[in-house]
Amino acid sequence: MTEVQKLRLGVNIDHVATVRNARGGAYPDPLRAAQVAQEAGADGITAHLREDRRHISDADIEGLMEVLTVPLNFEMAATDEMQAIALRHRPHAVCIVPEKREERTTEGGLEVAREENRLAHFIAPLREAGSRVSIFIAADRRQIEAAHRIGAEVVELHTGAYCDAHAEGRFDPRDAELESLREMATFAHSLGLEVHAGHGLTYDTVQPIAAFPEVQELNIGHFLIGEAMFRGLAPAIAEMRRLMDEARA
Ligand code: PXP
Repeated sequence: MTEVQKLRLGVNIDHVATVRNARGGAYPDPLRAAQVAQEAGADGITAHLREDRRHISDADIEGLMEVLTVPLNFEMAATDEMQAIALRHRPHAVCIVPEKREERTTEGGLEVAREENRLAHFIAPLREAGSRVSIFIAADRRQIEAAHRIGAEVVELHTGAYCDAHAEGRFDPRDAELESLREMATFAHSLGLEVHAGHGLTYDTVQPIAAFPEVQELNIGHFLIGEAMFRGLAPAIAEMRRLMDEARA
């Protein structure tokens, strides 16, 4: 029986930067959002520095490293440029994600099994620098085994397919997507990996995932920033926190 630990909430602030960049100025400031999120109960802040800098900028990462009192989860593609930036800042955690220029968001998980050698060499210096390395992958046994073999400490399971199924009305508690997330969370945990999950989570989809005892952290962004327009960022986060705690109880 898995010991149930507190479920951490990582708030992804990328889309505060998306709104800022729509006008090319400094408002709204993602750092201010990070501070509000921190005060509202976020256990960590997540930011994805994309190769094309479409939302978060290099200066945002620098600022976050200075002002945050909670850990920064730095999402990045496995490129030399991003590795150098991560090694300069040494964030608490580095989450390796696949990145395609033409995609609107991170569409799938990382193909670890096919790139095992390269990724093992890629993450080693990050770990030596003191960052916890997380790999964003689909709920797929082969990818989890590969993430474990390359020395990752954490896997973040991609919840996008489950959330899409829900949004399209294909949801059922025994839904295949949810079932494979459940099985793969248990499997990853049995290998000694810390299990996180995220992508596309909303008030309607968070609870079945939050109820998995093996999952220790959820990273949630787009929905929370959208919901902040209607009820404010702190109340939007507080409601997510409440739903997570309720599912965990
Ligand atoms: N986790 C990872 C690894 C991601 O890439 C993203 C999206 O940037 C998220 C979580 C958050 O997804 P969403 O913004 O849909 O909540």
